[in-house]
Amino acid sequence: MTTNQSGTNKCPAGAPVVDFDLATHNRMADSNAAWDQLRSTCPVAWSEDNGGAWIVSSYDAVSEAFRNWEAFRSGRAVRTIPGPGGSPDLLPINAVPVQTTALMIPEELDPPLWHPYRLVFMGLLSPKRVAALQPRVKYWVTKYLDDVIESGRCDIVETLTSGVPGAVVLEWLGFPEHEWHRLGAAFHNMSSYLPGSPTAQHYLDELEWAFERIREEVTIVRQAPRDDITSYLANIEINGERTSYEFATGMVNMAMSGGVDTTTSVSSAAFVHMHRHPEDRQRLLDEPGLIDSAIEEFLRMYPPARTHGRTVVEDTELGGFLLRKNDRLIISEVSANHDEAAFPDADKFIIDRFPNRHVAFGVGPHRCLGSHLARAMFKEMLTQVLERIPDYRIVEEGLEEYSNWTALGGWSKAPITFTPGTRRL
Ligand code: HEM
Repeated sequence: MTTNQSGTNKCPAGAPVVDFDLATHNRMADSNAAWDQLRSTCPVAWSEDNGGAWIVSSYDAVSEAFRNWEAFRSGRAVRTIPGPGGSPDLLPINAVPVQTTALMIPEELDPPLWHPYRLVFMGLLSPKRVAALQPRVKYWVTKYLDDVIESGRCDIVETLTSGVPGAVVLEWLGFPEHEWHRLGAAFHNMSSYLPGSPTAQHYLDELEWAFERIREEVTIVRQAPRDDITSYLANIEINGERTSYEFATGMVNMAMSGGVDTTTSVSSAAFVHMHRHPEDRQRLLDEPGLIDSAIEEFLRMYPPARTHGRTVVEDTELGGFLLRKNDRLIISEVSANHDEAAFPDADKFIIDRFPNRHVAFGVGPHRCLGSHLARAMFKEMLTQVLERIPDYRIVEEGLEEYSNWTALGGWSKAPITFTPGTRRL
């Protein structure tokens, strides 16, 4: 770490300067170690990497940055109200730019415009609405396990952890079943490969196809609504007027991208963890009542969303430094969740950890609205795996981590073997 004496165009004088290129730490262990080191030396620091940004890594600073929506804005541009796509000064919300102009509504809006759109999702994803979706969650977990249970082997990512969130969310949105696999893969893989690699480019192209499908469906259901959530979002009235086509596609994009990948990441991590730590698996088998606290600990240890971006709109102090208007911030959920000051024995998986105020779902006004649905899907997958294939083993040689752990983490492949069981449906 050095201190910038004179100040440059981007980096304010007096700022602690570090080399911290998110994209170079591209395995979970490397990435976690880099965050640990940064947090212990400089929890709020400037780095010229990643386009020049403040990197925020301690629990307290991360929580403060997420909460201070007045100074640290989510909108793509510095202006308060983002225009619908295309403007050259648009800055993507995530730490790593993806090649897209598709908006995420409400995540990329700021108050006051954000508020009615948040209320729309709050209604759709309330505990009561999630309870009504529970039979579908149970059905898809049961069916996908039935499909493989007699064979004694499968890839648990393909079969279950990506299959289930994809089926639940895309059925809810009303997309045709033959497209679920391709849509799911586009969102899982959009940021899991190193930028610039041919595979990353392939999935960015796939993502553009997914956005095109969203635009087509929104166009169709704005003319002829069906009984599904895409039709509801596409025709919603905000302040007495039907929302714009751009914002309607932005809401469907939000539901799809927020819904299909994140739960995949944490549930895959949980199955890998239980393979490598049989004592934790045994404890859950012996004491199933611990499942809810285990879910929170998996979310703390393996948060799917690792970083989010913000833009400073007024000079503001954070962690003792002055952040200036137009600076960018990269806020790290994964680093906050491993901060020893907030979580004693932070590197240990403590199945009944309490309190456990992790920030896997963010904190403050944009805190995740899909948390109830995510927990419901995760819990059903964990429960049925522990009941039906409790002795599963991961075939380590086939295990494949994402090659990019900057914005999202996860596993692309996790082959397993187990004692065959019987179908339920
Ligand atoms: C384990 C699973 C999930 C994780 C870890 C997660 C994480 C997050 C995080 C960190 C944010 C805050 C972003 C920010 O502050 O900029 C967020 C926002 C959001 N998430 Fe999730 N998410 C998950 C699942 C879901 C699901 C299943 C849905 C819906 C189907 C969903 C819908 C949303 C929405 C609508 C917002 C925006 C809220 C707002 O801007 O007011 N999420 N999520």
